[in-house]
Amino acid sequence: WGREGHRALALIAEKHLSRKAAAQVKDLLGDKSIADVASWADEVRNQPEYKGTGSWHFVNLPLGMGYADFERALKAKTEVNAYQALQANIKLLGDKKQPREKRIDALKFVVHLVGDIHEPMHVSRAEDKGGNDIQLQFQGEGSNLHRMWDSGLIHAHGMSDDKLAAENDHPDHASRLGWENSSVEQWLFESYLLSTQQYAEVPSGSKLDEQYYKKHIGEVQLRLQQGGIRLAQVLNETLK
Ligand code: ADE
Ligand code: ZN
Ligand code: ZN
Repeated sequence: WGREGHRALALIAEKHLSRKAAAQVKDLLGDKSIADVASWADEVRNQPEYKGTGSWHFVNLPLGMGYADFERALKAKTEVNAYQALQANIKLLGDKKQPREKRIDALKFVVHLVGDIHEPMHVSRAEDKGGNDIQLQFQGEGSNLHRMWDSGLIHAHGMSDDKLAAENDHPDHASRLGWENSSVEQWLFESYLLSTQQYAEVPSGSKLDEQYYKKHIGEVQLRLQQGGIRLAQVLNETLK
């Protein structure tokens, strides 16, 4: 996601934090909120100190697998990726013997990476760099499939991140729709299915119209909301 997506997702999560988790987040981040630091991982990915974290933001896999094969392939991956990085950072965050600075970075990575794995194009194909190489036209301008899902559809929605978060936050939804108690592997598989659909629907050189926006903006909102609820779950579970 771009800045707005990450921020909206973290704003949703914030409202679902337990008192204990909220207190520990405040202890680690001080005046800043999880929404304020949600894009930090994108800002540091090219800094020498965080060299090698670029591949933490996504998972590339061949298309066409069912869940069982997908899970097996995910667990067998040797290249550092979002799935591994998220697990490693959750572990660091929950380990109170770690230096404080390490746990602060881990918290910021967890906030960001739960977000990214809910962006469908972050669980996608290596050949086209998660849709970055699939050029298209939208609203009279050049873009690409990856960028459409990071930010293009959200910008077309034209809504501030607080509004995006508020509009999407229905406290009863999560349990009703079975979003809770699902696994990280399942969250990734949901993105994988959505990116598979996108590859089929949007060949390189497509001109996307209002119809495309109308068809998919609801999916963007769903992913932000699911990501927000699940980020809160992860933090509540890790910061007990
Ligand atoms: N670079 C290569 N694959 C990518 C992906 N799925 N998302 C973002 N950047 C990538
Ligand atoms: Zn992206
Ligand atoms: Zn990212």
